[in-house]
This record gives sequence, C-alpha cells and structure tokens, in this order.
Amino acid sequence: MSGVFEVREYDAAGRLGELSVPRADVTVETPALLPVVNPHVQTVPPAQLEAEFGAEILITNSYVLHGSDELREPALQQGLHDLLDFHGAIMTDSGSFQLAEYGDIDVTTEEILQFQQDIGSDIGTPVDIPTPPDASHEQASEELATTQERLELASTVDTGEMLVTAPIQGSTHPDLRERAARQAYETGLDLFPVGAVVPLMTEYRFADLVDAVTAAKRGLGEDAPVHLFGAGHPMMFALAVALGCDLFDSAAYALYARDDRYLTVRGTEHLDDLATFPCSCPVCTQHTPAEVTDIDDEHERHRLLAEHNLHVSMEEMRTVRQAIKQGNLLELVETRARSHPTMLDGYRTLLEYADQLEATDPVSKDAFFYCSAESARRPEVRRHHKRLERLDVDGDVLLTEGNHSDAYDESWRLVAPFGPVSKELADAYPLNAELPEKQDPRACEAAAEGVRRLVAANPDADVTLLHWDWPATALETVPDGVRTDRLGERESTDSYSEGEESEP
Ligand code: GUN
Ligand code: ZN
Repeated sequence: MSGVFEVREYDAAGRLGELSVPRADVTVETPALLPVVNPHVQTVPPAQLEAEFGAEILITNSYVLHGSDELREPALQQGLHDLLDFHGAIMTDSGSFQLAEYGDIDVTTEEILQFQQDIGSDIGTPVDIPTPPDASHEQASEELATTQERLELASTVDTGEMLVTAPIQGSTHPDLRERAARQAYETGLDLFPVGAVVPLMTEYRFADLVDAVTAAKRGLGEDAPVHLFGAGHPMMFALAVALGCDLFDSAAYALYARDDRYLTVRGTEHLDDLATFPCSCPVCTQHTPAEVTDIDDEHERHRLLAEHNLHVSMEEMRTVRQAIKQGNLLELVETRARSHPTMLDGYRTLLEYADQLEATDPVSKDAFFYCSAESARRPEVRRHHKRLERLDVDGDVLLTEGNHSDAYDESWRLVAPFGPVSKELADAYPLNAELPEKQDPRACEAAAEGVRRLVAANPDADVTLLHWDWPATALETVPDGVRTDRLGERESTDSYSEGEESEP
C-alpha cells in the first residue's frame, strides 16, 4: 500500500478521508457509497449516477462481464469507463459472491485480476471465499487460509496502476477476523473490504456485525481504507462509519426497489403501506405513492423507487460526513439506533468497544450531547475516567452535585455521567456537555465509576460525596471509605417553584 488513503478528521473511529485512485486519476471523498451497477440491468444508468447523484465511484462485477457472450468483448475493446459511460473510479468485484451463492466459479485469482486489469478497472478484487456467518471455527479457519493464499498471490501479480483489494473473512469468529485483517494488511494490498456480512445485515444482526468490524479494525493499520462489502442500507451507515468503515456498496437501492420497497434512514417500507412519501427527493416530490403504485410498467415503477432509494442513501452518507465534521457522529448513531431494536443492539455493542473507539476520538469537539442512557458509555466518558486515574487530590475532598464549599481542602463538581470534575477541566471538552436535567441511573452509575477511579488513584484522600438522589446501583459502587450524602431538592426545581428564573 502506498499512501492511497489519507484521513483528514476523526470522530470516534469514523473518519473523513480521501482515497486516491491513480488509474482513474480521481480522489474519492470518504465515507463514500458505491452504487452497484449490474452491467446487464442498469436500473439507474451510470451517467445519471454521476450527473444527478454525484457518484464519484461505483462498483460492478467483473465475473458477470467475464461470463457474458454479449459484454465480454465490448468490455475488453472499449474498456469499462466507455462501456458504462462513467468517468469516476470503477471498482470491480471478482465473482466471490457468486461463489457463495452458487457454490462454484470457474476463474482463478490470476485470471480474474488480469481480466479486471484488461477491462480498465481502477480497483480489482481477488477471489476470496466468503465464509457465511455461524460457520464452524474449523471451516472458517480453513477457508481463510485459502483466501490468504490468494491475497498473497494477488500481491505478487503485476497489476499496474490498478489498486487491489484484500477482503477480510473469518465468519462470526472475532479472533479469525482479527487474524485475517492482520494478514491482509501485511500483504501490502490497497483496500480492505470486510466480507460476507450481507447475511448479517439482511437478518438485522447488527451486534454481530459490530463484533466482526471491530475485530477486523484491530488487525488493520489506521492508514487502511476499509470497505464494508454489500452494506447498502442507509439505516446502518452512521453505525458502520463510527466503527471505521470508509466505503460501502449498495445493490440494496435496486434490489429493494424490485420488491416495491422504499428505503428510509429508519428502515424499509413497502410501497403499499405508504400514505405519503416522507422524502423530498425529485421522485417523492413529483409523485404520490398511489401514482407510483398505479404504474403498470414494472421497470418504470422500479426505476422510480430505485432512484428514491439511492437519493436517501446518498443523502445519509452526506449527513454522516457532516456529522463527522461537526463532531456529533455518535449523536447521529444514537438517533439511528432508535429506529429498530436490533440497531440499538448494534449501538450497545459498539459501546462495548468504547476504548477502541477512544483511541482515535478527537480530544476536543463541539459540545457533547447526552441523548439517551447509552450516552453514559461513550468513549468521551471513558477518556475522562482514565484521566481521573492520573489526577491528584489531597486532604478533605468534597465531590458535589450541589454548590462548592470552603469547608474542604478541595471542592470538585460531580457531573454525571463523567464523575468528579476539577475546576480546571470544568469548561473543557467534554465536560462542557449539554446534559438533561433529569438524570437516569446509567449516568449516575458512570459518575460513580469516575469516583471509584479517582479514589483508587488517591487512597489517602478523605472524600465526601454529595448527590441528588443517586440510585442504589450507583451508590453501591462508590468505594467504602467515601462518605455519601443526599442533597435536598434540586436547586433548579426550587427556584422554578418560587417563580424565579421561570421566564423563558
Ligand atoms: N460481496 C458481498 N460480500 C462479498 C465478499 O465477501 N467477497 C466479495 N468478493 N464480494 C462480496
Ligand atoms: Zn424520495
């Protein structure tokens, strides 16, 4: 790999980056969505993808072209960019997906890489073996060894300016995913797709998806561009980007359209169930659901739905990029996680890897918004807790959710979910967070964890903790030597009931 990818900015493990694709002489802004183009059935023609949807890169299947009597020669003669009429970057897949679906394909990695190069592909793919979820460790490990052999072979083939991907397999075994990623990275190939996750997505197994991606990320260097193979539902873009995925390909926009299904960032709707189109794309502003339903020409109906599906997908990718820019990607993930319980499982699983995400999370961003009990487990909270282990306090120490007191040697604010906050840190990110007035137990429990860490680092300090009615689940984790006491009613409630400060 030779500096094809540059990260500009991080938020959690998500990043804004630039992928240089030398053969196409273009730079792709990431995170990016690659629409899948079926060379036989172009639901939305590539020229339109480029002009109307702003696609800088697309993906098509070289195996389909290789096996087509109609398209094989034109692809070789004209080259892909001419054949498809697309001037951005073109990535090609190898036929591994056909291998997974139909059990057998008849090309080798060398042949298909050569073919990809011959048709002018900008990013080629070897023939990996997509081991499905829940395969035995033994099967996954054996198939991985074969994939690895092919990647090593691919890294020795002269592919000119064409970039070559190194897919990461390993099924639902995180140890294998991590090993696969490490080995793939060591080949020096250019781009790293996490493979065989389509079944996880179609079955809404977002927690397993998070385990697979975080494992793969642990095996890769930070300069590795990561693609999530077959991830095309806009509902999960924010989640996957927050984990550190940079590229996505979507066949979903066309496949769902073929079943009269309409994508939104909150899930999938059937055309028949829509009383109105909630979206403002050209399709949705120029048609009503009833009008689209009444279109007898199936192709025309599906084309309209595919266009809408692509509009929302591209829009969500822009929303994700803007969120990284503003430093509120996790707030977006949290919002999207509310769209389906399995998405919430995915987000909760992501938070189990808060330490992994914290490694690249910027030290300072726009204000942290506490949006749900899950916010208490965000990487920024973890970072503050780690920082508390390095802070010194002496003598009689007050940690309080109420007012400071001169009766102590030191008086610190106690802010759920962060925990103790020294005066110096109070105005700095993330302690300048926007917090709800009404605390939930999770926030108090996280704050108690902060207290525990500060006390563990300062065993000689004599600590008093004053709180607004913390639940037992928080208080019972406060170390034994700490005196705890409840403050009275909330100050803000008092002043409100007395009619003070109640003007807006
Ligand atoms: N498309 C969707 N999943 C995969 C995969 O695991 N490997 C390849 N090569 N293509 C895919
Ligand atoms: Zn629309």
